[in-house]
Amino acid sequence: MKEVKISIGKEPYSLYIGTNLLEDIDSLLSSHISEKSVFVIIDENVLNYYEEKIIKPLKNNTSKLSYYIVQSGEKNKSIKTYQSIMEKLIDNKYNRNSVIIAIGGGVVGDMAGFVASTYMRGIDIIHIPTTLLAQVDSSIGGKTGINYSRFKNLIGTFYHPKFVVIDTNTLNTLPNREYKAAFGEIIKYGMLADYTILLDLEKNFEEYISRSINLDNIILKCIQIKEEIVMRDETDLGVRKILNLGHTFAHGIESTTEFSKLFHGEAVALGLLIVSKLSFNLKLITEDYYKFIHKLIKKYFNNIFPVSINTDELVNAMVMDKKNKCNDITFILPLGKEKTKVCNNISIETIKNTILEANNEYSCK
Ligand SMILES: NC(=O)c1ccc[n+]([C@@H]2O[C@H](COP(=O)([O-])OP(=O)(O)OC[C@H]3O[C@@H](n4cnc5c(N)ncnc54)[C@H](O)[C@@H]3O)[C@@H](O)[C@H]2O)c1
Repeated sequence: MKEVKISIGKEPYSLYIGTNLLEDIDSLLSSHISEKSVFVIIDENVLNYYEEKIIKPLKNNTSKLSYYIVQSGEKNKSIKTYQSIMEKLIDNKYNRNSVIIAIGGGVVGDMAGFVASTYMRGIDIIHIPTTLLAQVDSSIGGKTGINYSRFKNLIGTFYHPKFVVIDTNTLNTLPNREYKAAFGEIIKYGMLADYTILLDLEKNFEEYISRSINLDNIILKCIQIKEEIVMRDETDLGVRKILNLGHTFAHGIESTTEFSKLFHGEAVALGLLIVSKLSFNLKLITEDYYKFIHKLIKKYFNNIFPVSINTDELVNAMVMDKKNKCNDITFILPLGKEKTKVCNNISIETIKNTILEANNEYSCK
């Protein structure tokens, strides 16, 4: 097991990464949970696999333990789920000294973080991410949130956990499509800040896809890039915006497909493809770089195409994105290896033409 200090927020917190950490989860967390009332927010599939391993030991070491099962799927990152979790916390008399433990992917992490940050104006939370996407990205950085109507992450807060525990053994039960989706965010980190990640993904494609490679390195690389960026801008007012590379298109695609066609990481991969095309059309990246990114994403995501994108609907959804100013869509554009810029003032015509080209080129009809 390795312990890493994450220096974001008011108090740095520990991130533990390794294998078989769930076996001793009660002792790993004991300083923080023993004699406390603990409320676990857990993904339904994760509960099926890990109930014996997680819930039982936690029960023995806490003064009270109950749990809420979040149904799988992005559409459950909703105000309805939030409300019913709140009701359970209130009915069971959880108080300011209670601790929430989030066990699942990014959906559970974002939801539980939002619950923890708002229940009684904030109670402690520990994240145990169980998808590769949540391990490389969503479990650190402090963004919490739920979707509202068709708007992705419209309601949310910034709120940091007390601990993050990454047991990479949990990935053994993660289905292939869910596992591969994480490479959307991993490729994003490579494009943003570490070209060697992209070369590694290209070179070791078979090993990554067959999961025959140790993932600790790539998880820690992504986390360290995120930490470094978030430390400089915790609340997304400046440099943190670059973490949204590919996400303007991705969130628009998720919203226009009612959060039901693509996993978030897949939408990010498609978003990275289209935004690279946009940069290429604006002559901001070379043909070689564009082709390299295109080839890499197609390699990892050959299965997500075709998905139908309605150009007008997508543009309308992107106009509503909370990151925009004055109806002008904000994009993070790649400028080349490890370089990006925040950009407004791109004509709607250029954006629509790029989506149409992408539709034809990637056969996303
Ligand atoms: N807060 C942030 O900074 C941040 C960053 C990136 C993404 N996100 C959010 O994360 C979400 C996507 O997260 P995700 O990709 O983890 O999806 P997810 O939480 O929906 O999980 C994907 C699927 O995997 C299943 N699952 C989870 N762990 C499993 C395991 N160990 N074994 C078997 N099945 C398992 C779940 O039941 C689900 O069906 C999106 O809502 C996105 O907006 C947040």
